[in-house]
Amino acid sequence: MANPSPRRTLPLLTSPHKGGRSALTCEFRCGNACAHDVSNTSDNAYFGDVVASALSRRGMLRAGALGVLAAGAGVAGVAGAVPAAADPDPQVQSFGHGNRGGRGGLRFAAVAPNREDRVIVPEGYASAPVVRWGDPVLPDAPAFDFENQTAAAQAKQFGYNCDYVSFFPLGGRRGLLWVNHEYSDEALMFRGYTGGAAATEEQIRIGLAAHGGSVVEIERVGGSGQWKLVTTGRRRYNRRITAQTPIKLTGPAAGSDLLKTAADPAGTTVLGMLNNCAGGTTPWGTVLSGEENFNQYFAMGGGAPADQKAALARYGIDTASTAPSGRGWERVEERFDLSKHPHEANRFGWIVEIDPFDPDSTPVKRTALGRLAHEGATTTLARDGRVVAYMGDDSRFEYVYKFVSKKRYIPGFDRHNRTLMDEGTLYVAKFTGDSPATEIDGSGRLPADGRFDGSGEWIPLVTGNVSHVPGMTAAEVLVHTRLAADKVGATKMDRPEDIERNPVTGGVYLALTNNTRRAPAQVDEANPRPANKHGHVLEIAEQRNDAAATAFAWSLPLVCGDPNDSATYFAGFDKTKVSPISCPDNVAFDRDGNLWISTDGNALTSGGERLNDGLFVMPVTGPERGYLRQFLTVPIGAETCGPLITQDQRSVFVAVQHPGEVDGASPEAPASHWPDGGAGQPRPSVAVAWHTQGKKIGS
Ligand code: FEO
Ligand code: CA
Ligand code: CA
Repeated sequence: MANPSPRRTLPLLTSPHKGGRSALTCEFRCGNACAHDVSNTSDNAYFGDVVASALSRRGMLRAGALGVLAAGAGVAGVAGAVPAAADPDPQVQSFGHGNRGGRGGLRFAAVAPNREDRVIVPEGYASAPVVRWGDPVLPDAPAFDFENQTAAAQAKQFGYNCDYVSFFPLGGRRGLLWVNHEYSDEALMFRGYTGGAAATEEQIRIGLAAHGGSVVEIERVGGSGQWKLVTTGRRRYNRRITAQTPIKLTGPAAGSDLLKTAADPAGTTVLGMLNNCAGGTTPWGTVLSGEENFNQYFAMGGGAPADQKAALARYGIDTASTAPSGRGWERVEERFDLSKHPHEANRFGWIVEIDPFDPDSTPVKRTALGRLAHEGATTTLARDGRVVAYMGDDSRFEYVYKFVSKKRYIPGFDRHNRTLMDEGTLYVAKFTGDSPATEIDGSGRLPADGRFDGSGEWIPLVTGNVSHVPGMTAAEVLVHTRLAADKVGATKMDRPEDIERNPVTGGVYLALTNNTRRAPAQVDEANPRPANKHGHVLEIAEQRNDAAATAFAWSLPLVCGDPNDSATYFAGFDKTKVSPISCPDNVAFDRDGNLWISTDGNALTSGGERLNDGLFVMPVTGPERGYLRQFLTVPIGAETCGPLITQDQRSVFVAVQHPGEVDGASPEAPASHWPDGGAGQPRPSVAVAWHTQGKKIGS
């Protein structure tokens, strides 16, 4: 398919995004969501208007930490960052900054902001790619050939734009990586690509095969923290899931009329998963992967039945359009044409559970967790052993959710545990500030009580087959979750992305990436800056430190940006010592409970040029709470995804997504040559960083 065509000029590829993102990222990842109207037109209150109201194979890898929280329960077992169990009123609690400096201490010299076309790590550390776009996953996969890519090859090779990463030790020197493949960027994958209308059928099929996820076997290099892809032998776990893999729908909405199509009259089997962004790992050793901006794959919303248009529009689908989709998939697979198959869009936007240890297993879309632009789902255990999944809906002015299972997790009882995500209660969050609205003036200045903070509640939407939302059935609440949440007074947030519980302290951390559309009249204490370019991080302390609680306290430990900007806040830490940070996206924790944050779309610039995205770490307790430092930066045009710090704290994995995705870039004029260097095309890849002397990360 080598096609030496003149340098492509794509008139549509002018960035509508005022942040740090390139036009290519806007087009291919989100379908130019920023250029479109905000999907949430509900009159749900902004918070200023709201009246204050009340590891080894199965289950070992994270069960250790989860077990501590479930069984440990007691306040003595958690840090001072969460409220005391005895205090029944979260509104009067504050986040203590207790002294736990010993465990949080991290020693490394921060990586300076830069525009290098490589992964930069602190002195004393090294990094290397582990697995790259096109690397063979299945043993019979052909070697990658950029100039002659085929759909058949791509379906056996590592997909495009890696995102969430999970690691499963296999024992000895081997392990498995699960990796999401969020989206394809055809303008960088194919020479001369001019858009979906002109795409060849083979290009479209390559795009379908480049989505989904991969399981790959990796092995430790010597005794170091470096890992490399296993490239020989049987590799019996290796697997590709694509946009065409059969996936089962389970839970209360499975089989409902809203999920039935001509190809699947039972409403129980979908082909593929789309735009899988972040995710989580269950105590029983499976992956939860979030389908995010699925709306962009559908065409002909203007031809959908009139009575379905409001729900489609609420998910960002253009219901006036009769234009082809960006990638033109509907030309090859008619199911993406909403004028013919309007329910097909209802079959995407779910949390997908995948068993990385059984390559023959059918992945499952868990309808009990609702349908959103799911960033991901991260799990923890409630005090009584029920499973809790925290979830963000990554669009401007969307909401934060959690699911609490009906039944308890039983270690080792795999058959039982596999049913836990099918029955429970889905909640949406409401955040209330404790400072007068006049003190939240949009300047970023802290209110008189010294914090952006307050209380919150988890509002139930549905429990099993019982809806809590007037006028909507349980199936409607689960399929049209955004519409349900609009009705119960949920709080509109600044792009809620990853949300995850700290396994040491029990605090829950939510990345709010940015929201340049928030008007000055729309600021509230939980989203205190208008035209929020740099985002912030919100910390939740569940009542009694119980993940199943329905009340919580919250505060903002980080208001991001250049620390010289008075509208930033680093938990009160000396701002002359911290690293600048913009657009927090994914969060992770190390075994000591330090918060790791990766960024997407750094809006900070130097000399007019956007600075690279990075990975940062910050203690959340002790005297160094707020001491945020940059640990790693990714190459030109890339975002940092899937941060993962292994339990032995000797390896940090990051997914380097969309390297070289900058305005005007193309295969004829690549903006990045990472990871292969020379004249190589950029290849989204998972990389690992380690200490060259084998030390624990940060020590
Ligand atoms: Fe795919 Fe929310 O970033
Ligand atoms: Ca306050
Ligand atoms: Ca993300």
